Amino acid sequence: MRSTLAGIPTALWALAILPAAVSAATWSMTDYYSPQSFLTDEWNYWDKADPNGGLVTYQNMEDAVAMNLSYINDNNEFVMRVDTTATQLEGRPSVRIFSNKNFTDGLYILNATHTPTGCSVWPAWWTVTSDIDNWPNGGEIDIMENVNDQYTANLGVVHTNATCNVASADTTMTGTLQYTNCTADTGCRVLMNGTNAVGETATGFNKAGGGIYAMERTLGDTGKGIRMWYFSNDDVPEGLSDNATSVDTDAWPTPAADFPVTDCRSQFGAHQIVFTTTLCGTWANSVYGDTSCAATYGSCSSQVAYNGSSYEEAYWAVNHIKVFASGGGTEAASPAENAASSSSDGSATSSTSTASSTSSTSGASRSAALSSVVLAFSMVGGLAAWSFAA
Ligand SMILES: *[C@@H]1O[C@H](CO)[C@@H](O)[C@H](O)[C@H]1NC(C)=O
Ligand SMILES: *[C@@H]1O[C@H](CO)[C@@H](O)[C@H](O)[C@H]1NC(C)=O
Ligand SMILES: *[C@@H]1O[C@H](CO)[C@@H](O)[C@H](O)[C@H]1NC(C)=O
Ligand SMILES: *[C@@H]1O[C@H](CO)[C@@H](O)[C@H](O)[C@H]1NC(C)=O
Ligand SMILES: *[C@@H]1O[C@H](CO)[C@@H](O)[C@H](O)[C@H]1NC(C)=O
Ligand SMILES: *[C@@H]1O[C@H](CO)[C@@H](O)[C@H](O)[C@H]1NC(C)=O
Ligand SMILES: *[C@@H]1O[C@H](CO)[C@@H](O)[C@H](O)[C@H]1NC(C)=O
Ligand SMILES: *[C@@H]1O[C@H](CO)[C@@H](O)[C@H](O)[C@H]1NC(C)=O
Repeated sequence: MRSTLAGIPTALWALAILPAAVSAATWSMTDYYSPQSFLTDEWNYWDKADPNGGLVTYQNMEDAVAMNLSYINDNNEFVMRVDTTATQLEGRPSVRIFSNKNFTDGLYILNATHTPTGCSVWPAWWTVTSDIDNWPNGGEIDIMENVNDQYTANLGVVHTNATCNVASADTTMTGTLQYTNCTADTGCRVLMNGTNAVGETATGFNKAGGGIYAMERTLGDTGKGIRMWYFSNDDVPEGLSDNATSVDTDAWPTPAADFPVTDCRSQFGAHQIVFTTTLCGTWANSVYGDTSCAATYGSCSSQVAYNGSSYEEAYWAVNHIKVFASGGGTEAASPAENAASSSSDGSATSSTSTASSTSSTSGASRSAALSSVVLAFSMVGGLAAWSFAA
């Protein structure tokens, strides 16, 4: 390398070097979330009814810490776990957190060593409109998702309110496009071939000691839409080392998931970064019988009610999240332009039928499920009875 530059005048040398150094896809880190940051006001703990209809009681930060559901472990990882008390007839305590900060275009990196696994468990790492009460307005991007450990590769999913379709011919990815309509209930979905899935599958993320998931959102005129990658700890691309503060995604391999959705950029507002671990709910419950889960526990709700020890592995262990919201060839819409008018921690009505992550149920059955949830959560003492109903 160096020898080919020898003898070239400095000005030309600079010209030769610069294009690579300022690649359009070079991002600069703007936010670094350490394990400790998850126990500060940089993150909000959702403590209302689960919008996904799960049999969980989400805890605020103080209670989550007091109940040992959120803590820093001996490896300096931030842990979010589900309550393992043997019997819980009124929903199992769990944790759902979302970033205080709102983001638009950017590169989002999760370095984790463990993801929640098990029957009835529906874990996700995702970004969603900060206007959560009006979901799906503003959109949703699921980066890591599974239910009942039943998908052997990770699912990447995009949800929008109005028309947004992904044409297979327009994609460049190693994954498989399973659904093309981002507006439909299923969202547009990619099964990320070869990725270590969230969940205890044959190629499990946890068995590999964790790894890195990345999502790039560039919705401007020169953007590439939404792309996702998985990297094992042994195969981290250059520039993504622990201390790197700039990354060039043009130098990365073909993404595992590609959603070239720049045409529907108006469907995506400012997003918050979210972790959820719900149980049963609209999706995991409806497909519970597809695997051996039903034969093992009888029903999703009975597992939640009586089999606390089955949730020992239902936890996230996070090393860090990085956000690179500067550079990257993006023409990021300003958060102000997109910012939702309503506060995400505003009126806590149980009619918040929002943020159902990918659902394989039909619109009608999802609405029905949500109505029954709304009913259950608004009935004093009604939860115990409901726990057995599903
Ligand atoms: C919190 O839970 C973890 C996992 O079960 C356990 O290792 C740890 O000892 C618990 N800490 C406290 C303070 O109970
Ligand atoms: C959401 O989509 C519906 C049509 O499905 C449309 O009537 C409504 O205006 C959309 N909302 C926004 C904010 O675009
Ligand atoms: C991904 O998996 C699907 C289903 O197994 C397969 O049809 C497809 O060829 C795979 N694609 C790649 C790029 O490996
Ligand atoms: C996408 O799904 C929505 C909602 O179900 C539906 O109204 C629309 O017709 C679908 N679009 C296509 C192209 O199938
Ligand atoms: C992931 O986090 C671990 C623990 O902090 C660290 O050793 C490792 O280098 C990180 N990997 C990357 C790619 O950042
Ligand atoms: C990363 O930064 C930490 C803290 O500044 C330092 O101790 C460590 O040696 C650095 N690691 C690398 C690979 O440069
Ligand atoms: C679930 O809990 C019930 C009640 O304690 C117990 O009888 C059953 O064996 C448990 N099932 C499994 C698979 O552990
Ligand atoms: C993010 O957006 C939500 C909803 O508009 C708002 O309530 C919140 O204050 C915003 N966060 C920051 C840090 O501005």
